[in-house]
Amino acid sequence: MSKIIALFNQAGGVAKTTLTMNLGYHLSTRQHRVLLVDIDPQASLTSFMGIEPSELETTIYDALVPKDDEQFVLPIDKNLHGMDLLPSNIELANAEQQLIEDVFASVGRLSVESFRTHRLPLLNLPEDILSALRSGQIEYTKAKAIARVKDEETRKQLLEEAIGNSLSLSQIRELIKELKPAKQQEELRTRFDTTYKQAKKAKKLWSDAKKRKQLESLLAKLEKLIAEEK
Ligand SMILES: Nc1ncnc2c1ncn2[C@@H]1O[C@H](COP(=O)(O)OP(=O)(O)OP(=O)(O)O)[C@@H](O)[C@H]1O
Ligand SMILES: [Mg+2]
Repeated sequence: MSKIIALFNQAGGVAKTTLTMNLGYHLSTRQHRVLLVDIDPQASLTSFMGIEPSELETTIYDALVPKDDEQFVLPIDKNLHGMDLLPSNIELANAEQQLIEDVFASVGRLSVESFRTHRLPLLNLPEDILSALRSGQIEYTKAKAIARVKDEETRKQLLEEAIGNSLSLSQIRELIKELKPAKQQEELRTRFDTTYKQAKKAKKLWSDAKKRKQLESLLAKLEKLIAEEK
């Protein structure tokens, strides 16, 4: 009976390929028949075995991407240092793309394109929102809406309120709309304070008769506005 040994480690450059080749070699010297399968577009195993990947016409790619050719035979190089090799080259990267698309198509609810444009950007969400999203406390459409609030403190409060009160997306949008006037008000107040301070210091505004007249008229308008409140 045949055995499949797969070597994997999420870290790069930690000798996965070197170990695959050496393990294969030692198994073959112990009278096991060994087929090395290079399933990496980087094709290091193929190169390590002395084959130039770019010169290959058929590789594992052809086995993974279905073709109509019924005569297709796996492109195995026989008896390299006592082992057989199913080689790879960079073309396999296309197969990976194709395989991903097939998985999305089989799941059916989401296309690769929609995943790329709608779901992937979620990874750029602020950390607090991302963790709420990952723990399932909030849906991604709501998370995206809340993430648009720039002020960190306001955003946190909104997130808490959205989760705590199970707010709907439209309720969240309403709250965000209300935030905008509050911000504009704040900006106008700051502008008013700055202008007031500058006006007090601007000497010509008080000494120049023409300017003083203009100031008087502006002040009268302001007084009228304030009087309307009472
Ligand atoms: N025991 C070792 N001592 C020193 N160098 C080593 C040893 N094992 C492997 N190497 C070297 O480390 C480098 C990376 O090895 P290898 O390609 O096997 O890693 P890998 O995990 O397959 O990398 P990748 O993630 O890129 O596929 C190679 O240049 C290899 O020659
Ligand atoms: Mg490798």
